[in-house]
Amino acid sequence: MESQKHLFQLDNSIHYLNNAYKAPLLKSGEEAAIKALQRGRTPSNISVDDFFDEVTEVKRLYAQLINAGSDQIAMTPSTSYAFANILHNIPAKPGGKVITVKDEFPSDVFAAQAWCHKNKNELHFVGPNSNHRSEISTSWNQNILDQINENTSFVIMSSIHWSNGVKFDLKKIGNKCAKFGAKLVVDGTQSVGTQPIDVNDCKINALVTAAYKWLLGPYSLGMMYLDESFNHGNPIEESWMNRSNAKNFSSLTSYDENYRPGAGRYSIGEASNFILMPIAKAGLTQIIEWEPEAIQSYDKNLTAPLYEYLNLENNGDFANHLFSLPIPERINKEKLKENIEKRKIIVSQRGESIRVSVNVFNNEADIQALIEAIDAS
Ligand SMILES: Cc1ncc(COP(=O)(O)O)c(C=O)c1O
Repeated sequence: MESQKHLFQLDNSIHYLNNAYKAPLLKSGEEAAIKALQRGRTPSNISVDDFFDEVTEVKRLYAQLINAGSDQIAMTPSTSYAFANILHNIPAKPGGKVITVKDEFPSDVFAAQAWCHKNKNELHFVGPNSNHRSEISTSWNQNILDQINENTSFVIMSSIHWSNGVKFDLKKIGNKCAKFGAKLVVDGTQSVGTQPIDVNDCKINALVTAAYKWLLGPYSLGMMYLDESFNHGNPIEESWMNRSNAKNFSSLTSYDENYRPGAGRYSIGEASNFILMPIAKAGLTQIIEWEPEAIQSYDKNLTAPLYEYLNLENNGDFANHLFSLPIPERINKEKLKENIEKRKIIVSQRGESIRVSVNVFNNEADIQALIEAIDAS
């Protein structure tokens, strides 16, 4: 794969190494959204089918990306909304525990804390034995596996660590959860779209993804997968659109007691989202065309000179698209910050470290600029 920068309208004067913060708009998404906005000039241009068809297509594309059935996908406005629905439908093991990872994203942690408080379970944060690059991933994954047992109600964690890019072994974790009847709830916001994931292979019970990062979608829109064990659960709100007769506008007041199939009952009200949905569709369509596996290889090749400069091996323990910059001892961190700013390199400061995240719009010049900033510090 070559750089796909031409498909975006990124400001050429900056080096945007921050897709994990927010993705830039694809040209195709921008054009589709403008058209959608203009369609609103004349509401009669919006048909009954328009309320449903594009959402159905977006669900189908997301399902394809994660190897799920389209009926098992619901639309969300945020990960916190998704977690509220999912956790509302997980039964507690009496005196049980919930497992998450150290420094997990707050939307995940706050949802787990509230659930534990209500259900008298204990929340455990699991960390690695050491932060050293060569052992952080192995020890962290092992410690998570060691904690899962018959008392575990559920595990809630990101697919990769959102601030340092450590990869989690979801397949092993999913197998162990299944063995002990614990649900596995995964926040895929920082990897779905740019790294392959298979919900069946990993025995994931629920997968949540905000669209505005690696799905190249809009803010305030996301998708979630729920496996069939949720198909008869209770949604946190009751949208008329989630009932099986919703398409029949003339009989809405027959108050159909049946929900749409699969996870259809869990979608946010007004899920049609006429302006944002075309952006989500454009992002998913493009990603499926590129293929996440090819994106990972692109990122690996792109960042190879950086690892080489730092004299480090890319040992596969960290995602290729998101990692905390391993800054050598000799580097003056304050100076590095200045040099990064001076060269208009956009990265994220996360705690003590600098988070770098790359995507297919990045090119060699972006990585060279970062190497020069380190070298000058
Ligand atoms: C792992 C992860 N989950 C979720 C989010 C966004 O959460 P929300 O949709 O609740 O704002 C982010 C944003 O940075 C994230 O990194």
